[in-house]
Amino acid sequence: MKASGLRSWNLLLAAGILLASAARAQTLTDDQLDAVKARLAEGATHSWEIGTRAEALIEADTPTYSVLNNTSLPPPKGQTPSSLDEVISIARSIVQARAKADVQGPQPFMDVNGGAAGDPPSIGVAVLLANWTNAGAQDGQNYAGAAQDQLEYLLTQVPKTSDGAISHRQEQVQLWSDFVYMVPPFLAYYGVLTQNQSLVQEAYDQCRLYRQYLVDDDAGGMWKHIVMGQNTDSGHWSTGNGWAAAGMLRVLGTIQHSQYAKQMKNQAKDLTNWVSEIHGGIYPHLRTNGLFGNYADDSSTFDDASGTAILASTVYRLALLAGIHTHLPQAEQSRKALFAPASSSSSSSQSSTSPSPSPSPSPSPSLSSSSTTSSAPSPSGSSNSTATTAASSSSASPSATAPVGPAMQHFTSDMWLTPVVNPNSFGNEGSKSPEAQAFVVELSSAWRDWAALGSPGANAAVRIGGGKAAWACASVVLTVMFAV
Ligand SMILES: *[C@@H]1O[C@H](CO)[C@@H](O)[C@H](O)[C@H]1NC(C)=O
Ligand SMILES: *[C@@H]1O[C@H](CO)[C@@H](O)[C@H](O)[C@H]1NC(C)=O
Ligand SMILES: *[C@@H]1O[C@H](CO)[C@@H](O)[C@H](O)[C@H]1NC(C)=O
Ligand SMILES: *[C@@H]1O[C@H](CO)[C@@H](O)[C@H](O)[C@H]1NC(C)=O
Ligand SMILES: *[C@@H]1O[C@H](CO)[C@@H](O)[C@H](O)[C@H]1NC(C)=O
Repeated sequence: MKASGLRSWNLLLAAGILLASAARAQTLTDDQLDAVKARLAEGATHSWEIGTRAEALIEADTPTYSVLNNTSLPPPKGQTPSSLDEVISIARSIVQARAKADVQGPQPFMDVNGGAAGDPPSIGVAVLLANWTNAGAQDGQNYAGAAQDQLEYLLTQVPKTSDGAISHRQEQVQLWSDFVYMVPPFLAYYGVLTQNQSLVQEAYDQCRLYRQYLVDDDAGGMWKHIVMGQNTDSGHWSTGNGWAAAGMLRVLGTIQHSQYAKQMKNQAKDLTNWVSEIHGGIYPHLRTNGLFGNYADDSSTFDDASGTAILASTVYRLALLAGIHTHLPQAEQSRKALFAPASSSSSSSQSSTSPSPSPSPSPSPSLSSSSTTSSAPSPSGSSNSTATTAASSSSASPSATAPVGPAMQHFTSDMWLTPVVNPNSFGNEGSKSPEAQAFVVELSSAWRDWAALGSPGANAAVRIGGGKAAWACASVVLTVMFAV
């Protein structure tokens, strides 16, 4: 009896230590994060990728200028922190290119020849920030004019539903969940910076209308991807649910930290509920490996680390903005899975539906065997020399071919997230996704800000896997052992 008792304590101890070691080291090092940002800089060419990159960089590098931080809005004037340089230069390159087009009046920041009128406004927060920090006095660009032209284009030239939802596409009314990340945050920020509450209300109304059209009560509150027009997709696209939740959180943060916080309490409460509703619908479908399928409730779809990352980031942000902790254990599970080293014990739990990283056209470096001698060729068959030069000119970025730190289960050796949905073809797996890189930056920042406040609500549910739970488990076991 004594012997077998001892054996089970030993087992418990072993389990405790295992859990504890699995719980540490699941963050990205600074070098790894820099490499993620460098791949993002190389890859971001579409308007929504550029806009999403700018927002991710604000959160990561200058949190006090992010609407998600608790600093009050409008942001401080005066000396612009140099950590905003990259964001301002994104705005500059866009506004400069626009001026060359030599068109006056309502127009988007970038061409919408592909038809997605809803995408370019995602760059708007960066452009408004450039205006606010008076960057035009240095470089002669008319940031306020560009922002105003984009606003007017959106409000007057893009088709709408009869009740006022602005279409995501130019050629006909189509409502895409993606829109919620691209447009309402721009409207809300514009309203706060120009003292125009009706624009902040418009941001809220667009969220309200999009939810009304896209929420699927039969799917527990997950959103459909696209309704109306030619591209309908009634599936519950994980990334789309992430876009919607993340966009509504930005509007929520903008309202809460603004001069309209008191007057718009009810709107803030609705936005909070709508983000929670998405979480409540989608988290029951989280796979045992910590990832969502590309369509959350379709088990035949591949694991998508991209949608998983943006969704997890929204769970930490909801905890910070609204004190809601319900899905933190699952967000932690996702974060630890995504940031796990290749050798982690959790690798054995990887879903069998996604055997290996991605059908990349270039030889994808093996994650498990990646030794440090990098014979891997330049990662991308598609990245052209301009892009490569731009990336390597960024001083902090490591070379594209050198592996950064230990091998990771869900990153290639040069830190592309994998496996990911193809950002240009939402039903298919892709290999290199710029938006996924931005989501990793956002997840990393959201977790950092949450951890800095002491990880409030980490033990929201009894679930082994949180760092604290693991350590507590190990120390209880040790204490008991020594007592015996
Ligand atoms: C806001 O930014 C500051 C400065 O980086 C950071 O210390 C703080 O944790 C952030 N707060 C939130 C709620 O994100
Ligand atoms: C933001 O949150 C931090 C941490 O809780 C707190 O110390 C700080 O006072 C807050 N700042 C504002 C402006 O609310
Ligand atoms: C641009 O900045 C100026 C000065 O801060 C401000 O008065 C104006 O409202 C801003 N315009 C826009 C469109 O943000
Ligand atoms: C607020 O913005 C809208 C849209 O640009 C504009 O029509 C309206 O006149 C503005 N209101 C105020 C008070 O500036
Ligand atoms: C090459 O990359 C640059 C910068 O990312 C981009 O602007 C350009 O369109 C790309 N050219 C081709 C041919 O892909």
